[in-house]
Amino acid sequence: MSDLRLIRKVCVIGAGTMGSGIAAHLANLGFEVTLLDATQQSVIEGFERAKVAKPPHFYLSETALDIRLGNTAENLSWIAEADWVCEAIVERMSAKRSLFARIESVIRPDALISTNTSGLQISLLSEGMSESFRRRFVGTHFFNPPRYLKLLELIPTPDTDPVMLAEFNQILESSVARRVVTARDTPGFITNRYGMWCMYQAVHAAEKLHLSVEQVDAITGPFLGRPKSASFRLNDIVGLDVMNDIASNLIERCPSDPFIQTLRTPKSINTLLERNWIGEKSGQGYYRREGREFLVFDLSTLAYRQRIEPDLPAINQLGSLPLPERIARGLELKDETGEFLRHYLLPSLRYADYLKEEVSHGVQDFDNVMQWGFGWQMGPFATLDAIGADKAGIPSTRYYINDTARNFDGTYSPIKKAAEYAQLTDYPVIDQASTYNVRDLGDGVKAVCLTTKMGVISPQTVEELIALIEKGTLDRFVFTSEARSFSAGFDLKFFAKAIPEERWIDIDQALARLQYLGELLEKSRVVAAIFGHALGAGLELSLSCPKIVSLVETQIGLPESRIGLIPGGRGVTLMRLYNQSSAKRLSEVAFTLALGTVAPNSEEARSLGYLRSTDLTVFHPDKLIFEAKRAALKVEPTARPEVSTAVGPLSGMIDRLLESSLSRGDFSKYDEQLGQKMKLIFSKAQTYEECLTKERNEFLDLCTKALTVARINHMLENGKPLRN
Ligand code: NAI
Repeated sequence: MSDLRLIRKVCVIGAGTMGSGIAAHLANLGFEVTLLDATQQSVIEGFERAKVAKPPHFYLSETALDIRLGNTAENLSWIAEADWVCEAIVERMSAKRSLFARIESVIRPDALISTNTSGLQISLLSEGMSESFRRRFVGTHFFNPPRYLKLLELIPTPDTDPVMLAEFNQILESSVARRVVTARDTPGFITNRYGMWCMYQAVHAAEKLHLSVEQVDAITGPFLGRPKSASFRLNDIVGLDVMNDIASNLIERCPSDPFIQTLRTPKSINTLLERNWIGEKSGQGYYRREGREFLVFDLSTLAYRQRIEPDLPAINQLGSLPLPERIARGLELKDETGEFLRHYLLPSLRYADYLKEEVSHGVQDFDNVMQWGFGWQMGPFATLDAIGADKAGIPSTRYYINDTARNFDGTYSPIKKAAEYAQLTDYPVIDQASTYNVRDLGDGVKAVCLTTKMGVISPQTVEELIALIEKGTLDRFVFTSEARSFSAGFDLKFFAKAIPEERWIDIDQALARLQYLGELLEKSRVVAAIFGHALGAGLELSLSCPKIVSLVETQIGLPESRIGLIPGGRGVTLMRLYNQSSAKRLSEVAFTLALGTVAPNSEEARSLGYLRSTDLTVFHPDKLIFEAKRAALKVEPTARPEVSTAVGPLSGMIDRLLESSLSRGDFSKYDEQLGQKMKLIFSKAQTYEECLTKERNEFLDLCTKALTVARINHMLENGKPLRN
């Protein structure tokens, strides 16, 4: 589609869990948002809860000020300003229908209208409204919390205008940063109908086979290619009351579904509901946190007990196999793992096959829902292919063959693949060394991808990357990582070993080579594509690239002070060069570095000075590589800013910030000393070269201090910083 309909103003109605979350997500993305609830008091109360939600709804807390709050009694006319009205009020057909009747009298004739219902029939919600209203009406089923869950089910009715539907789809994908699956207007759509069923099936199977909560979570988490929340943790997160409401609604509305009895309440859920131990929001459910420990609800005694490490050898034995093979082999096991998988997984695959045509438009959509909404690596149909459908009692069928997916009539159609969602593994490896792969992204752009654990950068990584860049074959490239995170920083073990051996020259050399690698990147046509964590040396190298393209949910920072060091691979220097516009700005940056602050997202990183105004934020969780490649096609080396003296009394400003933190108790004396090192480089070094030398010298000086050694060892032993 060429011209995207312009959606600028959105009115969200209902300021509860979902409405406030949707409003925040849209405001984060730059929409002009109005949030209405029934009364002024209820909108304010709902929104106040949203402002302190955990995890936070907003990237920057001040974005909350951009949302206009009102109520449907006095401010209904505001709806007339909206390009899109998104209803998220209480899940009651009559309440929603009477609200729509009121909306209809004020809404603009070209505005889009959607409901966030999680299960009511969409066509019934718009029944009786004008044709114009019905043509523009769809379900937009966001998930909780909207900022973090990328799936959106889009549910048209028979009256929805197909052109409008396509426009809406495109807006939701491009401007609202969602992965969209069009679902059929059936009870619970795909997610709740199938996802909820799987959640219940796991509980029933555990109770039947007398397996424990820990055992089932060990089997149904990463071992099955699913998130760590697995089964019972997920139940606690969703809330047993919400699960129960959805399940009873589905039982009532799907009487002819032969599988539906699985949604009857299991014994343990019943007991927990009776005691109001409904999961995370009540502080306890299947798990209860007690101090630093988790207690577990025992499915046979129906009481809490200490957590027992599950003894399931198969999980370790098969754990390193590729997922399809792991599942296939797991199902053959004679032990508890195998028995559980046969009782849980096989019926769930049969149910997907039974449901597919009723709820979805294709097996790929069905699989995508479980991947994007539930974080499964493989949806049920890919799993059936992996184990052989006949193992689940389904006549021999393959759902995917090469690049095609099976249609319901038995024919095959090409798999939907959009270039903008391509991931690194979709591109061939054309070169490699022990710490990186080079992939060909096409159009003359390569990707240099770290392959170390958590993208850790060791002296060997630095040498290999220098050799690669000096070969001169890269031309345009993206610097990124194949790990779960872009980079957790420099290899701490290197310093922990070199310091006691007093190998000062080796340490200085390692820093000098890291600085040199940064200079090579600076002169290259390279874009850093960062995600997960971009810390320490990872950020120093990224900031050396002419441009950074960052996923918004990236944790970004130079936390070296937490281990008693300073960023010595050009980190302090670059922070000076990019923040020297004023003494105030630089003094704040010195303070940030002394504290070792890590920004929780790229928007906050920008405000802390970790990102430059020319760096890009990618809001869509699956478009990083696409956007990075796009930027790499245009990137040119940019001249490094000259060192200049910040205007204003910089030293005094830094001193005052450090002293007041010290007196407030936010800082230790040693933090203050670290801050003095930043001050020295920010205010005393006159040239770029001097900055680099001072950075290394001060770093080495810190290596000789017992407090630094204690901080490094504490971090290595406990994974947490020591503020000594
Ligand atoms: P909630 O109970 O947290 O909030 C509902 C809000 O609607 C309240 O602030 C209430 O004052 C307001 N409200 C009720 N009647 C109203 C009216 N006539 N006019 C204006 N405001 C009115 O509910 P929640 O959880 O936010 O759910 C909202 C919708 O989103 C429901 O349709 C629900 O099924 C759906 N949904 C909920 C999910 C969840 O995890 N909570 C996930 C996905 C969808």
